[in-house]
Amino acid sequence: MVAEEYAQTLRSSRAINLVTCADIDVARARAFARRYSIPRVVSPGQLDADVVIVLTPPEHHADVARSAIEAGMSVYLEKPLARTASEAESLLALADRRGVLIGAAPDTFLAPPIQAAAEAITAGLIGEPIAATAALLSPGPERWHPRPEPIYDLGPLLDMGPYYLTALIHLLGPIATVHGAICGSRPRRTRPSGAEFTTTTATHVEALLETAAGVSITLTTSFDTQATTRPHLEIYGTDGTLVLPDPNFHEGTVRIRRQGENDWSALTPKMPGFEVVGRGMGVLDLINGPRRASGETALHLLHVIEAVQRTSVSNSGSAVPAIWRAGQR
Ligand SMILES: NC(=O)c1ccc[n+]([C@@H]2O[C@H](COP(=O)([O-])OP(=O)(O)OC[C@H]3O[C@@H](n4cnc5c(N)ncnc54)[C@H](O)[C@@H]3O)[C@@H](O)[C@H]2O)c1
Repeated sequence: MVAEEYAQTLRSSRAINLVTCADIDVARARAFARRYSIPRVVSPGQLDADVVIVLTPPEHHADVARSAIEAGMSVYLEKPLARTASEAESLLALADRRGVLIGAAPDTFLAPPIQAAAEAITAGLIGEPIAATAALLSPGPERWHPRPEPIYDLGPLLDMGPYYLTALIHLLGPIATVHGAICGSRPRRTRPSGAEFTTTTATHVEALLETAAGVSITLTTSFDTQATTRPHLEIYGTDGTLVLPDPNFHEGTVRIRRQGENDWSALTPKMPGFEVVGRGMGVLDLINGPRRASGETALHLLHVIEAVQRTSVSNSGSAVPAIWRAGQR
């Protein structure tokens, strides 16, 4: 699915030639090559290019990237970079030893909305940031993805959390602490066809985070919610509030309301200085700089996500005295 979006973005770029593609399903690779005029189709493992863009399901990211790095090629990976932070650390170390680059999605923070929000924060338009909320509230990917199981292997935190966390890290700096988290699960899922499957990962996650600069963040990622009016991202400063559009996409309007104002106004989108905007622009960021969609940021994300998972297991919370009878609301 996502390879289509990459090809559409990158074929408009003069900096990139799509020279080869590979898929374990060779017929799929051939059809893809025909659709995007890619001259060569090879087996996975025989790729030969300056950069290998890894768009397999996440459980294969590390293996595909490792063999490309060992062959001396730079890699750009879809999110999450790897299944675990330690797997990501060994990929980064290998790339360092081989003298090649690693870049990683998401790249949506490079697009005009989040760049406009970054500019507003840097200019002091909302004063000092004090808090933020991030909410991915969805009924789950079985509604639209033909193969939802790999997405459920990750769960909403690892599959969708990277968009929200990368945007917040870019805007507010790195996360230093996870103060609390709850992970709940509704394991039985139903496809639109009526077919059932089960998942073992958490399908609803709530977490309270704090950045190194002391900004508190409330993060919700859920595949269990049917509808919402909660904004995707809001950032609260001492002098104003920013409301951001869905960080899974490269477009949308950022709204601001400052102290003393009666209404919201739209920020002017900030063009990011790339020749193309869309899924895949992170590959240009890797090739031409400034390399902000980096392997290091993707590793930091995995550290944050693992800290949320650990906290939900180890944190027993503080009990509140019960004053109602059982069953009473
Ligand atoms: N689907 C989306 O809208 C979307 C959006 C953003 C990011 N992503 C990310 O993109 C990546 C791919 O997701 P997708 O939904 O496009 O998956 P997909 O299942 O649609 O496509 C994955 C392709 O990888 C091939 N493949 C599997 N193992 C391979 C291997 N070892 N070597 C070579 N090819 C292999 C499969 O045959 C398939 O054609 C994932 O990391 C996902 O998190 C997906």
